[in-house]
Amino acid sequence: MTVMNKIEGAGFAPASRISAIGVSEILAIGARAQAMKREGKPVIILGAGEPDFDTPDHVKQAASDAMQRGETKYTALDGTPALKAAIRDKFLRENDLSYELDEITVATGAKQVLFNAMMATLNPGDEVIIPTPYWTSYSDIVEIAEGRPVLIACDAEAGFRLTAEQLEQAITPRTRWVMLNSPSNPSGAAYGAEHYRPLLDVLLRHPHVWLLVDDMYEHIVYDGFDFVTPAALEPRLKDRTLTVNGVSKAYAMTGWRIGYAGGPKALIKAMAVVQSQSTSCPSSVSQAAAVAALSGPQGFIAERRDSFKARRDLVVAALNGIDGIDCRVPEGAFYTFASCAGMIGRTTPSGARIASDRDFTNYLLNEALVAVVPGSAFGLSPYFRISYATSQAELQEALSRITDACARLTA
Ligand SMILES: Cc1ncc(COP(=O)(O)O)c(C=O)c1O
Repeated sequence: MTVMNKIEGAGFAPASRISAIGVSEILAIGARAQAMKREGKPVIILGAGEPDFDTPDHVKQAASDAMQRGETKYTALDGTPALKAAIRDKFLRENDLSYELDEITVATGAKQVLFNAMMATLNPGDEVIIPTPYWTSYSDIVEIAEGRPVLIACDAEAGFRLTAEQLEQAITPRTRWVMLNSPSNPSGAAYGAEHYRPLLDVLLRHPHVWLLVDDMYEHIVYDGFDFVTPAALEPRLKDRTLTVNGVSKAYAMTGWRIGYAGGPKALIKAMAVVQSQSTSCPSSVSQAAAVAALSGPQGFIAERRDSFKARRDLVVAALNGIDGIDCRVPEGAFYTFASCAGMIGRTTPSGARIASDRDFTNYLLNEALVAVVPGSAFGLSPYFRISYATSQAELQEALSRITDACARLTA
């Protein structure tokens, strides 16, 4: 939950639905790091959740061609027929999932897909089960939609995965959704079929609970990890599962703002109502680009994955070499989520005591000039997230600074 930078001002009172929600802590840390850079400090930012690669040229060309053809007007409300067809083909080709065009929605990023889904389904007080650590937007979106996030701690010992027992215990008559994200931002942990199976068995016994799966990092998995998605694994749950995905991470298209989902027709229709009164439709040019991304050559994804893997290995090895830090090897995404439990209670050279993961990451920012995000931003402490979607040279420099700064802490 992000409760920083609460909105305040003379004579202004925000609506109660956003009063407990602030600007994302990740963005706040990024802004602070940028300000330090402007002061001339050589800060390395390992906070951003986006690939350092560029959007492939053939995708940019498709966008340019669309503009030249005059595809610069409003489109169909929740996706052009061409993009929906490309998404239908993608689901079939890569996930063995068959969706009709009216079971597919396209929005301005996967974030808006989640927003539409929660706004379209939650009544005040409806519960949404979210394993922690979670992507920061999950709980905030649920709260904006006046639902109640039910946060379940899943620590490193549990592989950062929800267990069937935890899920069973968390379900109440008010439960509307369970949100699962594999591979996960921030932990990089992924659910294989053997991890999903017991959870899906629990859900089969609770027909009022719907499942939202966020497959955003599907293509960024390592060591031969076999990616699966629940609606394919358990077809009996398909009519209450929303399978969310997008082009932001796999195709390095974060700025184009295209996300999509497949799900039951009635849900997709309700989500379109929300979209119709917020954005009207996703950007026409970006939709044309997304068609090219999903339908064009896919080979570069594996090349980029190999590059991410080399960086993952570099970061995990360096972190595990530091006394007081313990980093689980993530199956996917481009994040490490390491425990800094061993740092709590240590003292900085200026005499301050590290009492929390936020103190630790503040210390790293001030003393090592490296910006990382505390686990508290993702609902699980004491951990910190590194986004390793940056050059090896920069990572190496950042890791050596972190190592030196940690060595200066005294027990
Ligand atoms: C797990 C997860 N889901 C969804 C998103 C949102 O992606 P988009 O750029 O499509 O809104 C992100 C972005 O960081 C993410 O990490």
